[in-house]
Amino acid sequence: MDHFNRKNGVLHAEDVSIPAIAAEVGTPVYVYSTATLERHASALKNALAGLPSVHLAFAIKANPNLAVLGVLARQGYGADVVSGGELKRALAAGMPAEDVVFSGVGKTRAELQLGLDEGIGQFNLELEEEGEVLADLAHAQGKTAPAVLRVNPDVDAGTHAKISTGKAENKFGVAIDRALEIFDRLAKRPGLNLRGVAIHIGSQLTELSPLEAAYKRVGELVAQLRAAGHTITHVDLGGGLGVPYHAGQTVSTAEEFGAMVARVTQGWNVTLMFEPGRFICGNAGVLVTEVIWVKPAAGNPYVIVDAAMNDLARPALYDAYHEFEAVEPTGEKFVANIAGPVCETGDTFAMGREIDVVKSGDLAVFRTAGAYGATMASTYNSRALVPEVLVSGDRFAVVADRIQPETIMGAERVPEWVR
Ligand code: LLP
Repeated sequence: MDHFNRKNGVLHAEDVSIPAIAAEVGTPVYVYSTATLERHASALKNALAGLPSVHLAFAIKANPNLAVLGVLARQGYGADVVSGGELKRALAAGMPAEDVVFSGVGKTRAELQLGLDEGIGQFNLELEEEGEVLADLAHAQGKTAPAVLRVNPDVDAGTHAKISTGKAENKFGVAIDRALEIFDRLAKRPGLNLRGVAIHIGSQLTELSPLEAAYKRVGELVAQLRAAGHTITHVDLGGGLGVPYHAGQTVSTAEEFGAMVARVTQGWNVTLMFEPGRFICGNAGVLVTEVIWVKPAAGNPYVIVDAAMNDLARPALYDAYHEFEAVEPTGEKFVANIAGPVCETGDTFAMGREIDVVKSGDLAVFRTAGAYGATMASTYNSRALVPEVLVSGDRFAVVADRIQPETIMGAERVPEWVR
């Protein structure tokens, strides 16, 4: 459910018309709905409210905009971060350091130190050596770092290969059958409070069965660790809940997820931690674009829009599907290809799709672009960095400026021997 609806035939974000935003900010532009963010944040929170102890950490890689993080901080969400930059963002958005979880397979020593300096709530360790380094850093400074060990449960998440993370051959976590011996060694180290385990098997999971299978393995591991004398107080179940990208697509709901978690984790007696990203912000954003040309071609015509793969990379990277709809549709449909201006055939959003009839100058949106949209944008082809707008009721604000090529060039230097 989202708050992008048509009023008098014109697409609105809450009570603001998309053409009004486009007129003021230009296109392409990401538009987010505060009410939708809040709705999803509270749906998940409510679905997990019956569990004894829960910590929600928004995976800020999905949408790190400071205003978006501010909305979620007000909902009581902490952050799951994977870099020093994301850690700085979480803090800048007002998320308390103790609510920050630091994930990531390649945290540098400087990033581990930053986490210690800021006093973050938890480090999710990806390998034994990382635990040794963190323990040594913390111990040398008279600190004890709260940490859990990420395990790889070897479960097929049934999602796109590029966003699957829980198969044995993936780079993430330690093999679940080696977790006990690593725990035995790391838990002894001064400087480390190794208090639990973490998993994250992949993203855009539309069914719960792979998550359930992975959680059960974690439950067995927790029992095994306790039997070996370890104190386990925290289990981080990661993110991964999918969203509908196709109109009418059904995916597991927050309630179904909450019920499954309650059933599987019954009796674990731990604080359960979650790292949702896409579920919170996916449907809370659209990418607004203007049609430049409708170009005749050998097959279907090409609708050339002013958004491109540098603004929304998901179709080019994962063959991802995003609904395309006219902001003021006429009711007529035609079959077309949709592409951006970037000089690559990969800069194609759809081939042979039945869409609203559009013409040069019309506005349109790509839906479900609030997660892994602007955050993955680049300036390829020396295009401006796409701006972001946040709507709330009848108000809107530019929450990220369009960064122009002149600004990017301003950070480049031509050495004297080239001039
Ligand atoms: N926790 C960890 C450790 C993760 O690696 C991720 C996502 C999440 C949580 C949040 O997952 P979510 O709830 O959003 O599924 N760029 C890709 C998605 C990459 C996901 C990476 N990890 C896409 O556009 O589909």
